[in-house]
Amino acid sequence: MKKNQSASLQSGGKGAGERFSSSGFILAAIGSAVGLGNMWKFPYITGQYGGAAFFLLFVICLLIVGLPVLLAELAVGRGGRGNASTSLIRLSGHKLWGGFGFITILGAFVILSFYAIVAGWTMHYAMLSFTGKLFASEDYAMLFSHFNDSWLPVFWQFLVIFLTGFIIMRGVSAGIEKFNKVLIPGLVILLVVLAIRALSLEGAGEGVSFFLKPDFSKLSAESALVALGHAFFSLSLGMGTMMTYGAYVDKRQSLGLATLAVGGGDLIYAFLAGLIIFPTTFVFGLEASQGPGLVFVALPAAFSAMPFGSLFGGLFFVLLAFAALTSTVSLLEVPVAFVREAFKWSRGVSVFVVASLCFLIGLPSAMSLGNKVSWLTFGGKSFFDWMDFVCSNIVLPMGGLVVTLFVGYAWKGAAKEAGLRGWWLQTWLFMLRYVAPLLVLLVFLYSAGIIKL
Ligand code: PHE
Repeated sequence: MKKNQSASLQSGGKGAGERFSSSGFILAAIGSAVGLGNMWKFPYITGQYGGAAFFLLFVICLLIVGLPVLLAELAVGRGGRGNASTSLIRLSGHKLWGGFGFITILGAFVILSFYAIVAGWTMHYAMLSFTGKLFASEDYAMLFSHFNDSWLPVFWQFLVIFLTGFIIMRGVSAGIEKFNKVLIPGLVILLVVLAIRALSLEGAGEGVSFFLKPDFSKLSAESALVALGHAFFSLSLGMGTMMTYGAYVDKRQSLGLATLAVGGGDLIYAFLAGLIIFPTTFVFGLEASQGPGLVFVALPAAFSAMPFGSLFGGLFFVLLAFAALTSTVSLLEVPVAFVREAFKWSRGVSVFVVASLCFLIGLPSAMSLGNKVSWLTFGGKSFFDWMDFVCSNIVLPMGGLVVTLFVGYAWKGAAKEAGLRGWWLQTWLFMLRYVAPLLVLLVFLYSAGIIKL
């Protein structure tokens, strides 16, 4: 603790406040990146958009756009030492940039309101699995829809949001950092155990080759855009998260190395998730391209047919719940940091107010699931789907664009804060100035339905 305090005093900056230790920061940032995106979304979009060829595209997007933008967000946070809005104002001297930053804060707040619902599903399923109740049913699609018809998802959503609040209430180092230091090693152990289990299933090879042998004929422009959008989501970009975490990083820490560690961690995690999910679905003859239900519908069927299935199923959903919580923690911290600075409230009061509001805003999403409240489904989508659509496809690419343009064109001190020189610096700036904005704009126009491919 003493070491941290003196480090934060030395690092100075405007708000010489709370700081991560250097390993704590890397773990917390990996925790934010690794989440339901890797284990729930990544497998089903890979299933839908072409298996290995899609995975390759995702890796390329992560390298050429994801990593440069991640470094940019971290540098803005550490340079500005504020929340995702005030950091931009301090570095630019203009309120307008702060307004753009505020959109990313709202994005994080809204994403949390429905991300917590999916996180809640994983907890419910972990419980069902350990108690053996999951496998009492034969029809997993029906089980999932009955669950959503009930009010249970609202209960779990409440629990996830307030559990997250409870963790960050304790602050950056005693709360966020400590929590990630416990959970991430647990996550790695679970991941390895489950990957070994999946790969040792008889006939696992077919699933592995679907995931790793590219068939380029399956690729389309659409898969490229989905891959890019997912690279953003998966690295927690465009939502103020990495800017907020960046503000708690010590001046002496290398942001370049941190970027590589987070990108690498996220990629390895997605890779191992693929090695768990595809062999399991293929061995049991299930469809890998069935969409969002893949994890909640196909995998229970697979686990039920496997020896010790309720143990492995339970572990799998615990893994998902852990991964989700390390991400919800980073999402809640974004609006909490803003509220603390804007209203000068204590951390505890800020957390309580933001978490309560987030639960309220999330209620329509939770209630729109299943057949509970029919008017919450309109325009062919439930309220939940609308929130996901607007955040993932509009707010997130817009937030990404703001950061790229800001760091690429407006902020003179970017190179110094990022600690890059020579070739690395030139490449980084080139990506931020030309490649990333162009690609992000394409994703945005495509996702918003303005261009069709
Ligand atoms: N990166 C997280 C995941 O993959 C989701 C997330 C997005 C978290 C944006 C924070 C901000 O699940």
